[in-house]
Amino acid sequence: MDKLKAYDTPFYLYDLDLLNASLSACKTQADRFGYHVHYAMKANTNDMVLREIVKAGFGADCVSGNEVKKAFQSGFDPKAIVFAGVGKSDKEITDALEIGIGRFNVESVQELEVLNELAAKYNAIAEVNIRINPNVKSYTHANITTGLNENKFGVSAEDIQEIIQLTENLKHIKLGGLHFHIGSQITRMEAFKNLCLRVNEINENCKQYGWKPDVLNLGGGLGIDYVNPKDNPHADFQLYFETINGLLEADQDQEIHFELGRSLVGQCGQLITKVLYEKLGKTKDFLIVDAGMTELMRPALYQAQHFIENLSSEAAEQNYDVVGPICESTDCFGKEMPLPKSKRGDLLAIYSAGAYGESMANAYNLRAQNPSAYIINGKVVRP
Ligand code: LLP
Repeated sequence: MDKLKAYDTPFYLYDLDLLNASLSACKTQADRFGYHVHYAMKANTNDMVLREIVKAGFGADCVSGNEVKKAFQSGFDPKAIVFAGVGKSDKEITDALEIGIGRFNVESVQELEVLNELAAKYNAIAEVNIRINPNVKSYTHANITTGLNENKFGVSAEDIQEIIQLTENLKHIKLGGLHFHIGSQITRMEAFKNLCLRVNEINENCKQYGWKPDVLNLGGGLGIDYVNPKDNPHADFQLYFETINGLLEADQDQEIHFELGRSLVGQCGQLITKVLYEKLGKTKDFLIVDAGMTELMRPALYQAQHFIENLSSEAAEQNYDVVGPICESTDCFGKEMPLPKSKRGDLLAIYSAGAYGESMANAYNLRAQNPSAYIINGKVVRP
């Protein structure tokens, strides 16, 4: 705590011990079924966090040229780097070809043709998974649902036969497997069960069309507990993989891949912020803190609720709206939150901020980000 007080706030605090526990829980459960897990870089690209993920032996799922480069520079095996995304630019594609990544998750017919042309210039063969939009509900926030017909992602399952035929003439494309991703922060296993049933159906159709996918990539999306993060310091990987294994019908020679982000890194990060002012209003009381939607956008974007703890006070609780300094009314971490009576200078920890926190931070209002701190072997350090 004294260490934390010494650092300029707000800052991210990553518990690398907790991260490693989460990585190892995931790996142990995935290994039981021979599953391959790629880490979804978009969740967090902090160097120290990436270092642990590389060490733990995960692949990388990237959605921009810079993520591909970062994955490569961070030491991920290029063959275990996958590049997804609906709008890959020519430059991003050629950079990825140059690095020699394992797979492109292709999201449209036109992208397939462009990839073929660019690979031809490189005299390379691009291995691809076709991203299918399975039209399966994910029961999550609408803004992070990706697998419905109305979403921009992937191609329709009905187009797959045509794509198989088309790729026969694309000499620089090797058709590998199928890719799916239905959304994020999914807590109802029913969504994954429905995805498996749909994958079985599409996989079977592909075989009927004379092509057996070598990879079935089920994407990511496994949710974490934002309400009680202390009780559930990592996601339930056992339930997740057992659920999938119980329903997915794949042949021995088909690899099963996943792209997990939040479930691996979400709980290991906290945003540490200082109370600037306690403002007792007419109808409600505000705690004005020095972190804002510029550091953690999730509450403003998705009405996300993060558990908040006052690290400096154990006084009796009262309700506060916890708000940041940004000139937007959505700059609010929570309304009517029960917290100990707080005062100027108290440190608050905003939990479950390891995923889509720092990676979505921005410079609105010309805000600058402070360096992060880490817990390593139980000790707080800032390299
Ligand atoms: N694969 C694909 C193709 C994705 O689009 C995503 C996330 C993932 C994997 C990883 O999903 P995860 O396991 O982390 O749920 N900013 C939002 C989340 C956006 C997720 C976008 N795609 C948030 O803060 O909740």
